[in-house]
Amino acid sequence: MTGDESLVVHDASEVFVGGADAERIDDAAVAIEDGTVVAVGPTEEVTREHPPENADRAVDASEKTVVPGFADSHTHSLFAGDRSDEFAAKLRGKDYQDILAEGGGILRTVRAVREASDDELLDAMLERLDAMCAHGTTTVEVKSGYGLDTETELRMLDVLDRADDAHPVDVVPTFMGAHAVPEDSDAESYTEQVVDEQLPAVAEQGVAEFCDVFCEEGVFSVEQSRRVLEAGVEHGLTPKVHAEEFVRLGGAQLAAEVGATSADHLLHASPEDAQAIAEAGVVPVFLPGTAFGLGAEYADHVPFREAGATVAIASDFNPNCYAPSMGFATTLACVGMRLPPAEALAAATHGGALAMDREDRGTLAAGQRGDLLVLDAPSHVHVPYRFGQNVVETVVTGGSVVAE
Ligand code: NIG
Ligand code: FE
Repeated sequence: MTGDESLVVHDASEVFVGGADAERIDDAAVAIEDGTVVAVGPTEEVTREHPPENADRAVDASEKTVVPGFADSHTHSLFAGDRSDEFAAKLRGKDYQDILAEGGGILRTVRAVREASDDELLDAMLERLDAMCAHGTTTVEVKSGYGLDTETELRMLDVLDRADDAHPVDVVPTFMGAHAVPEDSDAESYTEQVVDEQLPAVAEQGVAEFCDVFCEEGVFSVEQSRRVLEAGVEHGLTPKVHAEEFVRLGGAQLAAEVGATSADHLLHASPEDAQAIAEAGVVPVFLPGTAFGLGAEYADHVPFREAGATVAIASDFNPNCYAPSMGFATTLACVGMRLPPAEALAAATHGGALAMDREDRGTLAAGQRGDLLVLDAPSHVHVPYRFGQNVVETVVTGGSVVAE
């Protein structure tokens, strides 16, 4: 980390300002002071006020593109163990939910996480943050949920706190004790345990900001999910919901009712769900990598956009979707969901920031946090267009160059 106090990125062929209108400026520059964007516009104008030669650091972005840092609002990227054999099994026709019902999937990762030491978990997390950062992620939400007991859930959250301190990527911690039902319990008694035992301990620990639940057939019912999320709110945690991933159960409507920040997955959501979400100001988060990995149909974003929602896309990096790259998520959003490239980029930046309650980032407007990427490519379209290639050349978080 260089800790620059002022940074000017100039002569970019394009600056993707982003935001709701996915605004772009050609031949443009961005100036950052003390971690905050202070000017964006044509290079001539910006450099008149902020000459590169006076800045602590200047980056010549000729023939390059500048975009906001990716805000990845849904990951389970803190895990131990290896589930690559399940990838192969799924290709042979095995079902994700059958694997879970047989004690594999999430439950297998739970066993590995319980056995791992704190330092092993931290090392794994830092390594994955490095990979995500190299691919342009500057803010990432990470969920607990591979502990499924109070002790291990708290350990996971503590590791997230330490990783946040140790790494330039901003880590947003979510408590997800209700991620699966542990093998020695049932959904009803485990819901009680999450509410009566885990949530008070998590609140006392003070690390988690959000509370998420896997509202799904065979996992947690709408009523159980509601109890967890409402108890979370009482403990100061903001709700998020895994909704309508495998069947349409009612998680999206629940998200609207409890005022969740986001409802995620939504592969089986209806137009009524889209309407309810948009009216309640819940951000729909699409995870095209998961659909891709499972060979499932992609979510339909159109009803959500028609209802007026700001949509987000996220990586869902987890052992079932080993996908640290938000650039690849934009490719899948374009090809699989038919999102235009500019909208996919806006969903991966502005949308993702809103899905984490981070209104201070996600666009390159003056006043926003100085999180940006310089791409070795002539326009933002090259992010989804060049799949399988990382076009991110320089990563800036809070005004400091952290990878180049
Ligand atoms: O969002 N659907 C539930 N949770 C994760 C998968 C976690 C896992 O399989 O380990 C998801 O895709
Ligand atoms: Fe998830």
